[in-house]
Amino acid sequence: MTQKKMTILTLHEKKARGEPITMVTAYDYPSAQAADRAGMDCLLVGDSLGMVVLGYDSTVPVTMDEMLHHCRAVRRGSQYAYLIGDMPFMSYQADRAKAIRNAGRFLKESGMDAVKLEGGREMTDTVRAIGAAGIIVIGHIGLTPQSAGKLGGYRVQGKTAADAQRLLDDALALQDAGAAMIVLEMVPDRVAERISKALRIPTVGIGAGGGCDGQVLVLHDLLGMFERFTPRFVKKYAELFPQMEQALAAYRDDVTARRFPAAEHAFPVDEGEWERWVTG
Ligand code: KIV
Repeated sequence: MTQKKMTILTLHEKKARGEPITMVTAYDYPSAQAADRAGMDCLLVGDSLGMVVLGYDSTVPVTMDEMLHHCRAVRRGSQYAYLIGDMPFMSYQADRAKAIRNAGRFLKESGMDAVKLEGGREMTDTVRAIGAAGIIVIGHIGLTPQSAGKLGGYRVQGKTAADAQRLLDDALALQDAGAAMIVLEMVPDRVAERISKALRIPTVGIGAGGGCDGQVLVLHDLLGMFERFTPRFVKKYAELFPQMEQALAAYRDDVTARRFPAAEHAFPVDEGEWERWVTG
């Protein structure tokens, strides 16, 4: 069977068939290539890159230019996965015309298939406006890292009956506004499951339990490449950071002890040319 590029329709069909959607973040050419070859349905160029790749304290400082730079690399590394560019803080909140222009840049300048933005009912006019420009929009509710300060930190959302209902209302409002999928972040599992069942469009959960239509994790968390903290909802499939550190220390030791480079890493001279050169 030949593999085909994922589309929003194939993702919706997966929900209809009850097949989980697989999504991971990717930020550069090699991570996109590896995730694409692993058969991932969707790659999210998340603004989490601000923390795990650029070393910022939060996602707030991330700019459009930084996002587009990484999206272009992911585009070059991916053939099949559905590609989603994350709209950074203040690229869509203040001004609807600017939101449409910035969403368009993700498609025109970096080859993304869709954009994602954070927020519930307060974002539905923006979702409609971007959608009317022919751009597919993915919503993101629950813990929305760009407004973590307003939410009182990185906390589980939708714990009370009233908050859970607000999340459901937000999800339905985003669906009505034309959102094509919704990320649910740090929501109690049964709340996320109830929201997922109430929607026609797929939900993709992160810290939202197994009742969502798909799952997403941050690449550096699941590969063990981010040392600062690991959220409870992460399953680590590798411990690459200590391996990187060990490999780099071994290289440093080899260079210091003159064990590297060995003969097989060097280019031998042509003996005749060498003689001609040193004898003048
Ligand atoms: O930026 C990101 O990586 C995200 C995921 C956590 C969903 O928004």
